[in-house]
Amino acid sequence: MLGEPEVDVRNKEKKILFRREINIPSTTYATYGLYNYPAKFIPHVVAYVLENYARPYMKIFDPFAGYGTVGIVSRIYGYDYELWDLNPLLKILHKSATLELRQVSITKIINEMHESKDIFIPKWSRFSYWYHEDFHDFLFHVWGYYHSLQDDYLKTLLTIPLLKISRYFSYDDMQRQKLSKSPKSVNRVHSLLKKNWKAIFYQMLYQEIKELLQRLKEFWSLHPKKVNAIIKEGIDSLKEELNEKKDILITSPPYLQSQEYIRQAKLDLYWLGYSEKFIRNLRKLEIPYRKIEPFYINSAIYHDFKQDIKKPHLRRIFERYFWGVGRALSRLQEDINSYLFLFVGRSSMEGRPVPIDRIFIEHFVSLGWKHRITLVDTIIARRLFSYRSNPATGNKDARTTGEFLVILQRD
Ligand SMILES: C[S@@+](CC[C@H](N)C(=O)[O-])C[C@H]1O[C@@H](n2cnc3c(N)ncnc32)[C@H](O)[C@@H]1O
Repeated sequence: MLGEPEVDVRNKEKKILFRREINIPSTTYATYGLYNYPAKFIPHVVAYVLENYARPYMKIFDPFAGYGTVGIVSRIYGYDYELWDLNPLLKILHKSATLELRQVSITKIINEMHESKDIFIPKWSRFSYWYHEDFHDFLFHVWGYYHSLQDDYLKTLLTIPLLKISRYFSYDDMQRQKLSKSPKSVNRVHSLLKKNWKAIFYQMLYQEIKELLQRLKEFWSLHPKKVNAIIKEGIDSLKEELNEKKDILITSPPYLQSQEYIRQAKLDLYWLGYSEKFIRNLRKLEIPYRKIEPFYINSAIYHDFKQDIKKPHLRRIFERYFWGVGRALSRLQEDINSYLFLFVGRSSMEGRPVPIDRIFIEHFVSLGWKHRITLVDTIIARRLFSYRSNPATGNKDARTTGEFLVILQRD
């Protein structure tokens, strides 16, 4: 990296390592990583924004909140916040991540679960494809106990541990970011079947609950404040309205390609009681896979890039992505008083990195926003890319890597 300028003046880009700027021991510290939500914010980015830009009494908003990292960090810094996501998991994940600490006997919970006679069967026609039949009755009982619980605290405490272990007992290859069966995951199930898997299930459950309580202890040691929080899960950010003005919008919008959040979450959603029809309807709303009306993106870079996309299906995804995210944010920005923070990567299309950050800058500047700076975090890039040149052109192009925090201020 020697000799490379730290600030690219023309494009107002500056390199940064958020993990170095902000003192959070790890990306999974406290309750930041209770659940492996795909493409989660690193908490350092949100903390950086709040430390450097937020002022007392500002209200924070994330319309694509996923796991809800923005909410957790906002609580610690004492800001009111609102979170939206299409994925219904948002609510329960965020509730778990901010749960109060209470004394509980894990052994007692497990004993009660073991003795419970309640049954819950997910409304899922493909269930047998994902679970070996030997596990069926056992899992129906475990989840029967869960759904019979009247104590909301206990139920919340159990949710993430049960979701994680139920996934471990399924044929899903958890290494992959989308629900999929693989030889590796089939082997995992077969090796479980040869062991005392019920005992393994309960041991895992014990450990998971213990771990969760430990993480909650860490969270509370950060002194989260009492703030107003609005959480809207299972909603479409393209249609939903804000009921009050916000000061800061910070979000990492859906990925341009290869991330299907609802498909990945559906195993969990079935256990939580959602129906096949409901989940199918959610998938129809997911950006960039949904059908959507064209929307004008006011950016020359956007139109130039689109022109050169050769494969029609890629061009369609490209359009749907920008029409979806662009339309949602263009409408929502009207209710934002001070700042927009957009955290995006430059996914490649036909070997060319899509300059999503610059497209959004051009578009939002045309709507009256001022581009303050783009902070480029390169730590992820260093792990993922071994080459330093753009495969499409063969040219050295350090800007094809990294994650970009675009900072826009109301002019
Ligand atoms: C990159 S993720 C956000 C991750 C989040 N920053 C975190 O820390 O976990 C993008 C999110 O957009 C959501 N999404 C996709 N289409 C949506 C829509 N039409 N309305 C609301 N949310 C949507 C996905 O469910 C996903 O959680």
